[in-house]
Amino acid sequence: MDERSRHEEQFALQGRVALVTGSARGIGWGIARGMAEAGAHVVLNDLRQDALEPRLEELRAAGLEGSACAFDVTDEAAVAAGVATVVAARGRVDILVNNAGIQTRKRFVEFSYDEWRAVIDTHLNGAFLATRAVLPHMIANRFGRIIMIGSVAVQSPKPQIPAYAAAKGGVTSMVRALAVEVAPLGITCNVIAPGYIATEFTRALHTDEAFTERLMERVPAGRWGLPQDIAPAAVYLASAAGAFVNGSVLTVDGGFLACG
Ligand SMILES: NC(=O)c1ccc[n+]([C@@H]2O[C@H](COP(=O)([O-])OP(=O)(O)OC[C@H]3O[C@@H](n4cnc5c(N)ncnc54)[C@H](O)[C@@H]3O)[C@@H](O)[C@H]2O)c1
Repeated sequence: MDERSRHEEQFALQGRVALVTGSARGIGWGIARGMAEAGAHVVLNDLRQDALEPRLEELRAAGLEGSACAFDVTDEAAVAAGVATVVAARGRVDILVNNAGIQTRKRFVEFSYDEWRAVIDTHLNGAFLATRAVLPHMIANRFGRIIMIGSVAVQSPKPQIPAYAAAKGGVTSMVRALAVEVAPLGITCNVIAPGYIATEFTRALHTDEAFTERLMERVPAGRWGLPQDIAPAAVYLASAAGAFVNGSVLTVDGGFLACG
């Protein structure tokens, strides 16, 4: 094998099965598409099957491999059944990306307990449920790559996202705790912390010119991020090249956090 092929193989996901939660759109879809382009069979997940069908069509049209498995990451039984279906169909899950997320923006004292719980449930408990469901299969194969989508909000929160910042902080800590447990089993567990990425999630912000102007004073790259900016980081962590990265946070933010 020549040098170039050896290099490409390091970053390839050929033969891997990757489950990406919340991948009907936004960052999750960007990651799923990136992983499919790297050779993985991607299992798209979101709340509704009909939201996944057009994405499957896009994969097929591009000659890429994928299937769909809709479930709600906060529903313990549905997560277990969904992962069991994937394992029955594909034989295993090599890569899990815990990406599904929601946001509620309001002041701390205005949060109802239900609103608070919904955010924590989706980001933190959902990631726990999906990870717990895939782990036995990864342990049996002595291979696994778990990637959680964190946020720069852990270190630099804006007002009115207390539940989100708490959930992402929990996810970041959970990764470190899990990494020390599963590293000896051939499994890595890392966080990608995106900066400000233009998706539906941030529509109210990236369509607000005044907000964008203020934000750009803090983003040295001088632009909003795109899902395509996050996908290569996920491919890297999932690939052979990322084998020794464990319990880490990979920040992809155009320099936002470096700006203080
Ligand atoms: N956009 C940003 O600036 C940004 C920055 C940092 C982190 N993130 C994180 O990245 C992830 C993706 O964000 P995005 O911007 O692509 O958001 P998005 O709203 O565009 O996509 C989120 C997807 O998750 C799905 N989802 C929500 N709840 C679910 C559930 N219970 N079960 C299954 N699927 C569910 C939604 O239907 C949607 O398709 C989130 O975890 C978010 O917190 C986003």
